[in-house]
Amino acid sequence: MPGETSETLRQLIRSRIRSHPFVAVSNREPYLNTWQDGKLAWMRPASGLVVALDPVMRASRGLWVAQGDGTADRAACDENGFVDVPPGDPRYRLKRVWLTDEEVENYYYGFANSALWPLCHVAYQRPVFRHDDWRAYREVNEKFAESVAREVGNEKAFIFIQDYHFALLPRLLRQRCPRAVIAHFWHIPWPNPEVFRICPWKQEILRGLLGSDILGFHIRYHGDNFIAAVDQELEARMDRERAAIVFERHMTKIRAFPISIDFDAVARQAASEDTEERMKAIRARYGIGEEIILGVGADRIDYTKGLPERIEAVDRFLDRYPEFRRRFVFFQAGVPSRTHVDAYRQLNETLDGAVRRVNAKYGEPGWCPILFLREHLPLAELLAWYRLARFAIVSSLHDGMNLVAKEFVAARVDGSGVLLLSRFTGAARELRDAVPINPYATDDVATAIRLAIDMTPEEAGRRMRKMREQVRERNVYRWASDIVRKLSKLA
Ligand code: F6P
Repeated sequence: MPGETSETLRQLIRSRIRSHPFVAVSNREPYLNTWQDGKLAWMRPASGLVVALDPVMRASRGLWVAQGDGTADRAACDENGFVDVPPGDPRYRLKRVWLTDEEVENYYYGFANSALWPLCHVAYQRPVFRHDDWRAYREVNEKFAESVAREVGNEKAFIFIQDYHFALLPRLLRQRCPRAVIAHFWHIPWPNPEVFRICPWKQEILRGLLGSDILGFHIRYHGDNFIAAVDQELEARMDRERAAIVFERHMTKIRAFPISIDFDAVARQAASEDTEERMKAIRARYGIGEEIILGVGADRIDYTKGLPERIEAVDRFLDRYPEFRRRFVFFQAGVPSRTHVDAYRQLNETLDGAVRRVNAKYGEPGWCPILFLREHLPLAELLAWYRLARFAIVSSLHDGMNLVAKEFVAARVDGSGVLLLSRFTGAARELRDAVPINPYATDDVATAIRLAIDMTPEEAGRRMRKMREQVRERNVYRWASDIVRKLSKLA
C-alpha cells in the first residue's frame, strides 16, 4: 500500500469531512510571536505534538485553538485572538486563548505538569495534588470549552482534542456542541490502575475523557490501562471485544494510533545542500574531524527523558573502553522546559553537574567528551547533527512515543547510523531494528554504545533500511488518516 501523504490526507478530509469544520485543540500553540529588535518575530515551540499536528492542520485547512503565550502574541492577532498560520504561507487559522498568570501557574505548571505528568509516567517522580491546581485545571478546561463552542455552536463539526491538559474538555464540549464528533488523543502513557487510583479526582478525569467518541493512545497497552481504570472506578459497561466503554448511554471507542512525523519532509531537508553546509560548519566549529566517533541526543530537559542516566552511561563507556578517549564525542541538545517546577530546576542542576563531572574526569586539552547545548536548536541544525553521528541515544525512562527517534531515522538519508532506543518508549514497539536499551541499567547502555560503534556497516545499514521503511510507511499522515477515517464513520 503506497504511503499516505499530505495530499492523500487532504483528499480524505475533503471527501469524508467535507464542509464540516475541523477543529484541533491543544495547550501548546504551533507558532508563537515574540518581539525581536522592536519587530514581530515568529517561533516554533519544542513540542512533539506540534511536530505531528501542524502538517495535519495544513492539510485540513481547519482551526487550531491553543493557549497564546508568546510575548507578542496579542499584537499579532485580531481582537478575537485569530491569526492565519504558518507565517508567510497561511494554510489554517489559529485561535489564541488567553490565560492569566495564575491560571498558567496552577493549571499548566500545577495540575497538568506536577500532578498528571508524573502520575502517568513511571519515572519515580511523586505527583503533587493541590486543590488550587485542580480548581484552575477545571476552570481552564471550561474556558477552552467556551472558546471552542463559540466557533462550533450547534453545527456538525469534528473536534480533535490533544493531551493531558484537557481531560475534562470532551465532556464539557459534548454538553455545548451536541452535534460534534469528538476525538481526544492522549499523548503520554496511561498508567496501570494501581498507579492511577492515587489521584484524588480520578473519577472526574475519567468521566471527562468519556465524553469523547474516540479516545486515542499511542499503543494498545495504554488503552488497556485506561479501560482497566474505568472498570475499577466507574459504573460503566465495558465492551472489551470492541475496545469500547459505554458510560451514561454514550459510547467511547478506545484505539491505538501511533503518532509519527512527516518522513518525506524530514528526509528531504536532511538531504538538502543547506544541511550539508551545516554539517561542514559544525565540523569546523567544534573540531569534529572524520576520526571522531560522534553520538547524539536531543530532548526537552525532562526527568522522563533519562538524561542523567545517559551521561552516566557515557561515563561508564569511557571508563571501560579507554581506547575511545580523544576519539569519541557525545553531543547533547537540551531544550529547557517547565523550569518553574522544582523537579525540573533540580534536574537541570543534576544534569549540569553530571556533564561537568564527566568532562573534568576525562577531558584533555583539545578534547571535551560531552558537548551539551542547552538550546532549542532549529530542526535544520538538528538534522545536520543527526547526519554526522554514528549513533543516537533515546534513553527515556518512560515515553508515550518519542519522535526524536523517528526524526533520527528519517534524517539518515545515507542509510547508515545506529539508534539506541529505550524499551520504555512507544517507539520501541515499532522500531524493532533499533538497539534496545534499559536506561536504568547504565552499564548495559555503555555496552550498547560499544555495540553501536562496532556494528558492521552492513548490519547497521540493514537495520536502518528497515526502520526507514517503517517510519516512511507509518508517517504522520497515516496517523491522522486513521483517526479521520474512524471519526468520519461516526458522523
Ligand atoms: O509528550 C507530551 C507533550 O505534550 C508533547 O506532546 C509535547 O512535545 C511535550 O509534552 C511538550 O510539553 P510542553 O507543551 O509542556 O512544553
